[in-house]
Amino acid sequence: MTGQFADLDARLDGTREARLADYLDFLRIPSISALPEHAPDCRRAAEFLAGHLRDAGLEHVEVAETGGHPVVYADWLHAEDMPTVVVYGHYDVQPVDPLDLWEKPPFDPRVDDGRVYARGAADDKSNVHAHVQAAAAWLATRGGFPINLKYVFEGEEESGSEHLDAWLAGNRERLAADLAVVSDTGFFEGNVPAITVGLRGIMYAQIDVSGPDVDLHSGAHGGVVRNPATVLCEIVAGLHDAEGRVNVPGFYDDVRALSGRDREELARLPFDDAAYLESIGMDAPWGEPGYTTLERRGARPTLDVNGIWGGFEGEGAKTIIPAHAHAKVSCRLVADQDPEHVFELVRDRVRALTPDGVRVETRFIHGGRPSVMPIDHPATRAAAACLRDVFGVDPVYMRAGGSVPVAASFESILGLPVVLLGFMPPDDHAHSPNESMRLDNYEGGLRTIVRYWDALASTALR
Ligand code: BES
Ligand code: MN
Ligand code: MN
Repeated sequence: MTGQFADLDARLDGTREARLADYLDFLRIPSISALPEHAPDCRRAAEFLAGHLRDAGLEHVEVAETGGHPVVYADWLHAEDMPTVVVYGHYDVQPVDPLDLWEKPPFDPRVDDGRVYARGAADDKSNVHAHVQAAAAWLATRGGFPINLKYVFEGEEESGSEHLDAWLAGNRERLAADLAVVSDTGFFEGNVPAITVGLRGIMYAQIDVSGPDVDLHSGAHGGVVRNPATVLCEIVAGLHDAEGRVNVPGFYDDVRALSGRDREELARLPFDDAAYLESIGMDAPWGEPGYTTLERRGARPTLDVNGIWGGFEGEGAKTIIPAHAHAKVSCRLVADQDPEHVFELVRDRVRALTPDGVRVETRFIHGGRPSVMPIDHPATRAAAACLRDVFGVDPVYMRAGGSVPVAASFESILGLPVVLLGFMPPDDHAHSPNESMRLDNYEGGLRTIVRYWDALASTALR
């Protein structure tokens, strides 16, 4: 089996140092999509990828305009009568605040103890870089691929993929394929290889409560008018019941109940509640009654406050009734919840919780649909076999609590089945300070991708 890939593996072994240096160069680009001042860096990251794809020998390489940060497209279409696969990853990263909690600057990557530390080291530059290097290895070693490949690397995933759906719809013909491989996920607890078969959707909104025209003296006016910050707290408190259910009428109406089989699959995963809680610095679980931690985390919908502010936030004391108060609220959604509909339900609930004397506005920021992938699709099984070949154990099938809205878009806009194949370790601190990637996952991921293209050549996808 391994003999079949001896040339490719030898090439990967021989380029290890150069590849690592290149991965670090990629991580030095602060491609934070949410912050307008980093737009030129996003473009630089796109150009970096386009240059590498071109050098590797891919064709039709393009930094395509979307109206936002560009999409990098490239293809290789010379495997006649063979399957065509669209590969997706994102080159943008999350903001880095709070900066003072980073041990080293987030865009000055360092290697320590088998890990690379930097913003984006895992999410998602590890997977994107591995794909580019896998392509380079195939083309340098064999002069071509056993299948047809179309690469789509996005630059707005971390800020809601605002322009991607329109770009996909506008490029339907160019993106015709048999399968989408979405590489933006990772392994299970304890770093067990995993294939993700469910992703939650998302609905992101902002609640603004306003009262007096300006901040008022809280002595001169306290006790006679509503305080917007107090009202906001009451609204937020009213969004859950005392047990931990989301208290928004209609919220659970479209939720597909977990089947007995779903629950069995989740219960089979090797998972230790206590160890998990310790790893995140908490000492007690919380959540919707009647569900396990893994069910709550991957297969049930949620509502969370991401940030809340208003009034005086400086040091010391200032005596005011704030003119306004704000909260960023998001819901993780499961099949068959619709982000826009859930937004309307939350907006109505917020209105119902708002007393006279203040004004409230709830604004939709972004949304994405949940997705569930079939465990027994031949392309999923082929991916599992490649993971086993490289990592030495069978992968588990898991539901991730996170969201990759494009997965649902590949299904709905392009009509493609989706395999989620990613290699981030579960303790990567993605979105947090000191994000890191395990280099053994990166190297193993690269070898898994190399084998997967070969495996798909003999997998019936049509
Ligand atoms: N790679 C993550 C999604 C993810 C996280 C998948 C954990 C599997 C496990 C992705 O980059 C991400 O962070 N997505 C955002 C969604 C977006 C709409 C901002 C998320 O989940 O918050
Ligand atoms: Mn990601
Ligand atoms: Mn992310």
